[in-house]
Amino acid sequence: MNQDQAHQLRQLSNSLAQHKKMSRVVTVASGKGGVGKSNFILSFALSLMELGQKVVVIDLDIGMANLDILMGTTPKYHLLDMILERKSIWSVLERGPQGLEYIAGGSGLKELLQLREEERHYFFRELEKLHGYADLILIDTGAGLTVESQQCHLAADEVILLTTPEPTAMADAYSVVKILHSQKPTISFQLVVNRVSRQKEGIEAGSKFKFAVQRFLNKEITIFGAIPDDAAVMQAVLKQVPFYLAYPRAQASLTLKRLAQRFINGAEAVPAEDGGMKGFLRTISRMFTS
Ligand SMILES: Nc1ncnc2c1ncn2[C@@H]1O[C@H](COP(=O)(O)OP(=O)(O)OP(=O)(O)O)[C@@H](O)[C@H]1O
Ligand SMILES: [Mg+2]
Repeated sequence: MNQDQAHQLRQLSNSLAQHKKMSRVVTVASGKGGVGKSNFILSFALSLMELGQKVVVIDLDIGMANLDILMGTTPKYHLLDMILERKSIWSVLERGPQGLEYIAGGSGLKELLQLREEERHYFFRELEKLHGYADLILIDTGAGLTVESQQCHLAADEVILLTTPEPTAMADAYSVVKILHSQKPTISFQLVVNRVSRQKEGIEAGSKFKFAVQRFLNKEITIFGAIPDDAAVMQAVLKQVPFYLAYPRAQASLTLKRLAQRFINGAEAVPAEDGGMKGFLRTISRMFTS
């Protein structure tokens, strides 16, 4: 090889290194429990896969084993096997329906939830190995914030924040934004309002939330969308099949399909509307700005 060719090869490999595919890391959070994070994440992952995305889902709700129950799968290993036995991330990567790659959270281990610092380091080191392997890494977390989930949210590219339109769920979601924003002002949130009776209800609830965050935290968040309250979701939970697969024509599934398209295309988020802000602003201001 002459000098010119060697130079060209070096340039090529530099440019390949620069374009090395990075994974988009997205965490799913909520303030209140039971608002639909785990069901959302599985069906969202499946709809993104349908669009050609390579997705890995991680169940960080350690000890509560929600994702495998919702998929009807029995994982051989889970996150704690990786962390406590220093297994590699590749050995705990499992496959669910449609080949969905996931790492289980493990069940019945609530007492081990608080990891030691070196265990958290190991977890994050292994997680980094997934970079470039998947287009998207979706991390499910339990309700509220634990040390682990907080670190994941702060390290992620963006946080999808789920709430229902109920004031209690919205107030708890607001606390999550407030805490994470105080630690990382550049953190990016995409709000999903789940279980709405009409799309308009979702937009109104989302708008109230967006304005409250703007007003009290001087922060912009995006309203990503609203998902209807749909009996198919509970039916699918009972069947232990993600609703997107069990009932692909259900309103919730069709909505997820649209959300996945919007997520990939980075299309305009839902515009906010002013919908009776006063009550919510009063609640938030009473609870959080004293
Ligand atoms: N769009 C929806 N329509 C109707 N029911 C829903 C919807 N989303 C969630 N649910 C109901 O809420 C229940 C709880 O959902 P899920 O387990 O996904 O919540 P979660 O936020 O992950 O809970 P946790 O905080 O305990 O992890 C589901 O079993 C289902 O019955
Ligand atoms: Mg869950």
